[in-house]
Amino acid sequence: MAQIQYKNISKRFGSVTALEALNLTIEDKEFVTLVGPSGCGKSTTLNITAGLEDPSGGELSIDGRLVNAVPPGERDIAMVFQSYALYPHKTVRENIGFGLKMRKMDKREIEKRVQEAATLLDIANLLDRKPRELSGGQRQRVALGRAITRNPKVFLLDEPLSNLDAKLRVQMRAELKLLFDRIQGTVLYVTHDQAEAMTMSDRVVIMNHGVVQQVGTPLEVYNLPNNDFVAGFLGSPGMNFLPCQLSHQGDHVLAQAESFTWPVPLVADAATPTAARILNNRGQLQGKAILGIRPEDITLTVADNPSGNIPCQVTLVEHMGAQNIFIIQAGKQRITATADADFYLAPGTNVNIRLNNAKLHFFDGQTGKNLTL
Ligand SMILES: Nc1ncnc2c1ncn2[C@@H]1O[C@H](COP(=O)(O)OP(=O)(O)OP(=O)(O)O)[C@@H](O)[C@H]1O
Ligand SMILES: [Mg+2]
Repeated sequence: MAQIQYKNISKRFGSVTALEALNLTIEDKEFVTLVGPSGCGKSTTLNITAGLEDPSGGELSIDGRLVNAVPPGERDIAMVFQSYALYPHKTVRENIGFGLKMRKMDKREIEKRVQEAATLLDIANLLDRKPRELSGGQRQRVALGRAITRNPKVFLLDEPLSNLDAKLRVQMRAELKLLFDRIQGTVLYVTHDQAEAMTMSDRVVIMNHGVVQQVGTPLEVYNLPNNDFVAGFLGSPGMNFLPCQLSHQGDHVLAQAESFTWPVPLVADAATPTAARILNNRGQLQGKAILGIRPEDITLTVADNPSGNIPCQVTLVEHMGAQNIFIIQAGKQRITATADADFYLAPGTNVNIRLNNAKLHFFDGQTGKNLTL
């Protein structure tokens, strides 16, 4: 298996910059996911890695060897595309073994590897079928089987689950994760599904407009987003962004939003070390900013206006089964909060909310940079 290193890799298509100065090292056996909105450069990164596209600049190394000039067939990489690209007239067995046959591998060795991959993917009973006789998830596994039998240094997977229905996606993402844990591959995985990125990856790379916004473990990028883009991209329902004016008063930072003022104590709290971010970066917390708070970090209460809470009104409740999503209104400001399924308030109810100070973020109103990191 192998390490992949990108040094200042860029890609331009005419006047379009698809990728700008990508600097990233994917370690041996690591599962790294590229995530971001449509057109942000995910497939371009994969295609450059596979050698299907040449970078406009920069250096790409695999296992310490510069591969810019190495043709795709010699990079020892297996790629699974969004469209499975199976041969319709060949059986599952022939599809999985096709790459090996082209390499003139011994027939018995091919059969052995096909059997191994099919057993691993739980499709050993389907080897004599044609792709049209399979479900989407089964076809997906055939495409994966074809990649696995090659025993490559690197796996590249471009939205491999996007053609599946929601339930199968969730099931397959767990299966895929277990599979790659077992075969210990270096995996570069592309998705625009943040749940896949969060659940499968050792590290996540969040991209926007060809530029990497942040690289980190799923929990790092979720809890400590570099900027408002990363903060807004991860999480469902998404983070609330409330424009505010920041000032200091005694041992508090005051966030003055349109319809409320929220005081944030400047304290070092050993129980919630994330709160120290606010204390340590208090010098930056001045003037116009955006307050960021996730829906799960807001507490709702119907108690009579306890001091310090923000009075709001419930506009809409979405029952998700395991939780309720409350769309509430604080003056002109719309806020989303979540609560347990057994906590219900009818639309129109007056409610007070409290923000979890340990989970607050403030973003620069102009650049979007997180001012509390
Ligand atoms: N062959 C090409 N010629 C011109 N522009 C291209 C070409 N391939 C990609 N682009 C542009 O480069 C940018 C990045 O494309 P890319 O396919 O990498 O996006 P993506 O992140 O994979 O998006 P999606 O989630 O929609 O698959 C887009 O603006 C796209 O229009
Ligand atoms: Mg793509």
